[in-house]
Amino acid sequence: MKTVTLHGRRFERSINHGEIVKAVEELAEKINVELAGLENPLFVGVLNGSFMFAAELLKNIEFPCEVTFMRMNSYTGTSSSGTVENIMGLKESIEGRNVIILEDIVESGRTLDAVSGRMKDHGASSVNFAAMFFKPSLYKGTANNFYRAMEIPNDFVVGFGLDYNGLGRNLKDVYSLKE
Ligand code: IMP
Ligand code: MG
Repeated sequence: MKTVTLHGRRFERSINHGEIVKAVEELAEKINVELAGLENPLFVGVLNGSFMFAAELLKNIEFPCEVTFMRMNSYTGTSSSGTVENIMGLKESIEGRNVIILEDIVESGRTLDAVSGRMKDHGASSVNFAAMFFKPSLYKGTANNFYRAMEIPNDFVVGFGLDYNGLGRNLKDVYSLKE
């Protein structure tokens, strides 16, 4: 079993890179079919966690699109802090745009609601949301038609963009915390 130790805590490999890439390709195929008709679509990656997912997904998107990034954060350590803070706004105007938000993982759904809400406040014509990972057992949100590449158990994970207090984002596989 491959393991990594980050800030003194041990994580075991739970999803390998090949499975992740395959799941992202399948999601991209679905988005290519379902969202191809959007006029002037704008993908917005939520930093920092979505950078690898955004890169992998967008390589497989076949319709013309713009890509940008914004920063939000609601997580400290291994649990959601409950408040979603907007750290860095967007430079692009959202008014009248068809926005597709890219996020690393949906847990409670608070970030999904907050970012989607912000896009609507700024006058987006439509808001779609795509996450790399979804933990259905912790979800308390109301949106159930958002895109996701993989559903995963209720474990704290790092890798493929996801971090534990800043470490682990660079890992190509995903690792789960072992107590
Ligand atoms: P939510 O707002 O509760 O849905 O949490 C979503 C945010 O929490 C994500 O954007 C991640 O930054 C972070 N997060 C949730 N689960 C994990 C995890 O297992 N590992 C690392 N970060 C996570
Ligand atoms: Mg995040």
